[in-house]
Amino acid sequence: MSALPQEASSAIPGATLRPLSDVMGAEVTGLDLTRPFDVATRDAVYAAFVRYHLLVFRDQKLDKPQQIAFTEQFGTLEEHTARNRGDADYPLVHEVSNLGEDGRPTGVVNSTLWHTDKSFRPKPSMATILHAIILPPDGGDTVFANMIAAYEALPDDRKNALAEARVIHSWELSRENVDRPLTEQEKRESPSMNHMLVRTHPDSARQCMFLGMHASHLDGLPLREGRARIEDLEAHATDARFQYRHTWSPGDLLMWDNRCLLHHADPNFDAARHPRLMHRTCLRGATPDGSVPFDIPEGFADS
Ligand code: SIN
Repeated sequence: MSALPQEASSAIPGATLRPLSDVMGAEVTGLDLTRPFDVATRDAVYAAFVRYHLLVFRDQKLDKPQQIAFTEQFGTLEEHTARNRGDADYPLVHEVSNLGEDGRPTGVVNSTLWHTDKSFRPKPSMATILHAIILPPDGGDTVFANMIAAYEALPDDRKNALAEARVIHSWELSRENVDRPLTEQEKRESPSMNHMLVRTHPDSARQCMFLGMHASHLDGLPLREGRARIEDLEAHATDARFQYRHTWSPGDLLMWDNRCLLHHADPNFDAARHPRLMHRTCLRGATPDGSVPFDIPEGFADS
């Protein structure tokens, strides 16, 4: 059964829209994203984005100012974390790559764990725009999971049991999973948040789970127990039936909804040999209903 709404397909003036899977995603061809949209086109693109959660614009070639201008049509650009800020001219365009300072492949691929961008912030990202600049000859996919479909697939008694559950999203605590303690500047810039586990999507009003690698633990439990519960929920949310795998083509520009999708980079290419470079911009979202700051209690990291 399709996880997408069944009403008539949304149309975008001057474009062709082709669904990519039953669980999410539509390919958009025929638009030139270097030019500003008129209001009708912008609204139709946004409606398709809400409906399909992930839009794949084919055959695009945007430089950094053009990607910023494209992104700004849908809201406020978001600052990246300190280490991900782009070059001095365009700090809002994060260069996602496996390249070192010398411009050569390092063998390291980042963002390989399931996450939704900046869920630890008071206003987690609404959308991410990722544009392929250099692709490896094959692989280097990005994989997505639909947290609306995952939530809707839960039995009613499980939904009821989770209705009031809260999750601490903490960059500081979740970094433990990848053994990279935050710097003092990063800690100051990224206080932890306590979000409802079940979130209502502000545009579609559909309910979804809100998880990912920054989801440190279930509130009210010791860290390790609360984290084990998160791992169980995430195993369900990322089950193969809720996934779409994007195999990149040159010129692809993806725009996805962080409010209801998880994603990760797949290091399924020879990252010590082949460069992979993407330009990433993010749009700031709203504070989810019920979210409050979370102060990490003294000694909590060892609980
Ligand atoms: C990201 O997590 O925003 C980047 C994903 C990718 O590199 O495929």
